[in-house]
Amino acid sequence: MRFENKFLLEAFQVPSEVSTGVSPYFDLLPPDKYINSGHRFRTYARFQSEDKEIIRLPHSKFIQSADINRVLGGVERDFSEMSREMIETEEFQHLLKSFMERTGAIDDHSVVDVHQIRVTCDHDSTSAPAPEGIHQDGFNYVGIFCVRRENISGGYTQIYSSPVDQHPHMNTVLEENQFVILNDKRFFHHISETLSSIEGKKGVRDVFVFTA
Ligand SMILES: [Fe+2]
Repeated sequence: MRFENKFLLEAFQVPSEVSTGVSPYFDLLPPDKYINSGHRFRTYARFQSEDKEIIRLPHSKFIQSADINRVLGGVERDFSEMSREMIETEEFQHLLKSFMERTGAIDDHSVVDVHQIRVTCDHDSTSAPAPEGIHQDGFNYVGIFCVRRENISGGYTQIYSSPVDQHPHMNTVLEENQFVILNDKRFFHHISETLSSIEGKKGVRDVFVFTA
């Protein structure tokens, strides 16, 4: 092909029933044992396309290099397994397929990692959805999908061209049922800290993070 376009960034809205379908499974998430904050819950699964079908790969440990993750790089993390029942829902399958189609993983058989993450926060102490700061995940593509955002101040999704940029190219609140996919080789990203917007109530931010 003479002219080949390069994927940079895409954002889209999915039907609201998608979040409704997967949301209950976030209440069942086990704590992320690698961040001892009491505010972070998480599971993990891996997928790959095979003859146009998407199959779940056997559970494995997750490791990022110290160059990429300055907080937990080099640490082998054995996250809890994602609920099979949730994975089989039409809603989750829609999200997974959307990510794989947009990034080409459905055709090139790239392994897709999915992290199901809840970060909670209080009114008087912040939580950091991205404790590593402005970062890359070390893949070709990263997708963030917001399932639930309740009583949250902050938690901006920010896209940068370098880790020392003062101002993000994009600084937006990912609302429920919004999906953003970015070229992880080209951009850096960060999620700003969150506070509960209602005194005495917890703030909850539920997301899926996809990488390929
Ligand atoms: Fe990230």
